[in-house]
Amino acid sequence: MARKRTEGQAERQFATKLIHFNRAIDSTTGASSTPIYQASTFHQEALDDQQEFDYTRSGNPTRQALEDYIAVLEGGTRGFAFASGMAAISAAAMLLSSGDHIICTEDVYGGTYRLLSTIMTRMNVETTFVDMTDLDKVKAALKPNTKAVFMETPSNPTLKITDIGAITAWAKQHDLLTLLDNTFMTPYHQRPIEHGVDIVLHSATKFLGGHSDVTAGLAVVANDSLGLRMKQLQNGLGTILGVSDSWLLMRGMKTLKTRMDAHEKSALRLAEWLTEHPEVETVYYPGLPGHPGRAIHEKQSLGYGAVVSFDVGSGERAKKVLSKVEIPLVAVSLGAVESILSYPAMMSHAAMPREVRLERGITDGLIRYSVGLESIEDLIADLEHALSFDE
Ligand SMILES: Cc1ncc(COP(=O)(O)O)c(C=O)c1O
Repeated sequence: MARKRTEGQAERQFATKLIHFNRAIDSTTGASSTPIYQASTFHQEALDDQQEFDYTRSGNPTRQALEDYIAVLEGGTRGFAFASGMAAISAAAMLLSSGDHIICTEDVYGGTYRLLSTIMTRMNVETTFVDMTDLDKVKAALKPNTKAVFMETPSNPTLKITDIGAITAWAKQHDLLTLLDNTFMTPYHQRPIEHGVDIVLHSATKFLGGHSDVTAGLAVVANDSLGLRMKQLQNGLGTILGVSDSWLLMRGMKTLKTRMDAHEKSALRLAEWLTEHPEVETVYYPGLPGHPGRAIHEKQSLGYGAVVSFDVGSGERAKKVLSKVEIPLVAVSLGAVESILSYPAMMSHAAMPREVRLERGITDGLIRYSVGLESIEDLIADLEHALSFDE
């Protein structure tokens, strides 16, 4: 029943790979989607034979299909699925040992900041947070015990751009492991392994899942030896993604391209409209001509994504906007079919002390808009009403 695969498969366009990935069709029945192998263990016919699956924490055919799928999309050698984005990031952080030092993007996602600044420090792994838009600052943070560089680009929520190729070229000279959180871009828009990154990480809870109905994390490695080390961590820590959620995530990922194209078109419209709005002080979106990182972003990415941040001047005004909007969810998260407005100061970056947050440009007036698939005319009219402070 298994369909013959030709050599040319690897050359196919991203849109085709999204739909026809290796295990998309069940090899035993021809079913149009990977079956959910809802089993925690597997009967062993002969104890001496090494069989592919023996226990679901170590491996499960449904999760394996997802792991192979994301590895193909990112152009890596092996993928890993975890219970959340933070579980994936934490597992990768466990590649480091006591006494090691990490250099990390300063306006990284708040949960990653918390992991590195409060949990990893107890394991005697220290982190220097730097403005990664400036290679000299990254270079200046190098210490004799530096072992890794953690990037997030565009960063969250101020959408600063890191030159991935410049960082990885420098990191290789110093034998540093490079990790990149690719949540905002997804492999449709940005494939960091092509720019020398060793490990790509995702909160698949966001655009990959796409429907605000699954919490998941993914990691993809660039070579086999890292694959073995990540496998040991995934199995040893046990923070795997459940079987049903693995299926649900693959279900969502199949429409990634179509969703991202529509998200991005609307995000650009919204960003341009916000730029002209008298009540808005600053707009952050890499697709805007004035964005300082735009040229670098265009060199390494195929799109601008769907997250637009803007500053309305004060916390009081931001809270007014959030209380007046009627269409988007006001929620923690992003990357879904529905628009989601979030308030980084009290949500994604609540784990960051206020002074640190302000230093990183995450002001009290900053709002993050994840543009969904609703009519952009409706979203703009809704925001126009929410931004009329006189009413
Ligand atoms: C950029 C980024 N990385 C990682 C995470 C963590 O992912 P999760 O919430 O799935 O653990 C998030 C969540 O908001 C995020 O936005």
